[in-house]
Amino acid sequence: MKPPFVITVDGPAASGKGTVASGLAAVYGLPMLDSGLLYRAVGVLAARAGHDLDDAPAAAAVAKRLTAEDLTDPEFRTRGAGEAASRVAVHPAVRLALRDLQLAFARRPGGAVLDGRDQGTVICPEAPAKLYVTATPEVRAERRWKQLTAQGEDVTYAEILADIARRDERDGGRADSPMRPAPDAVLLDTSEMTIEQAADAARRIVEAARARWESTS
Ligand code: CDP
Repeated sequence: MKPPFVITVDGPAASGKGTVASGLAAVYGLPMLDSGLLYRAVGVLAARAGHDLDDAPAAAAVAKRLTAEDLTDPEFRTRGAGEAASRVAVHPAVRLALRDLQLAFARRPGGAVLDGRDQGTVICPEAPAKLYVTATPEVRAERRWKQLTAQGEDVTYAEILADIARRDERDGGRADSPMRPAPDAVLLDTSEMTIEQAADAARRIVEAARARWESTS
């Protein structure tokens, strides 16, 4: 049977993948899962409960109890939450605890857009359309710095560049579900693109994948 039309959008921090993913969700009328938000919530809630973020069983217990209602806290969008997320995301028990929720989303009969690090490699390798969105570390740091200072955070560009390097290394170097493009993902480097240009390029990639998907029985 033909798989549902799922679009996976993976890539490193501040590469533009969230913007690309929400643009595609609007164009195709698909629900979107921001899987990073799940890890952010686990990181923040574990820290708030006083756990050491290296304590895998404690973080996994938080992940198992996570519900959709827990995901609205604005603190999950902060710089500290991104760092906490990538620390708890190295634990296989945390990833396992968040897996069913992501699989259920990926298997929605009407299709979905999945945004993250491992959506095309681990959660939905059968997705008909896969993108891997990148940009240079300097461009990503500039974008993230603008975003966080607009949210009122007091942080320098140099600190954000260092955060990005650390997070790339941790997310790409972990043993369980490391951040990397699926073999059949199309790479989209947004370093020199405006939001509109990145959205257009992503749409063209997905249109080609959709035509192939439509022609299969
Ligand atoms: O917005 P940004 O790209 O900075 O981060 P995010 O997508 O919200 O993800 C935060 C962190 O969660 C990442 O640095 C990863 O460590 C982790 N993550 C993951 O391991 N797997 C995913 N599918 C999504 C996020």
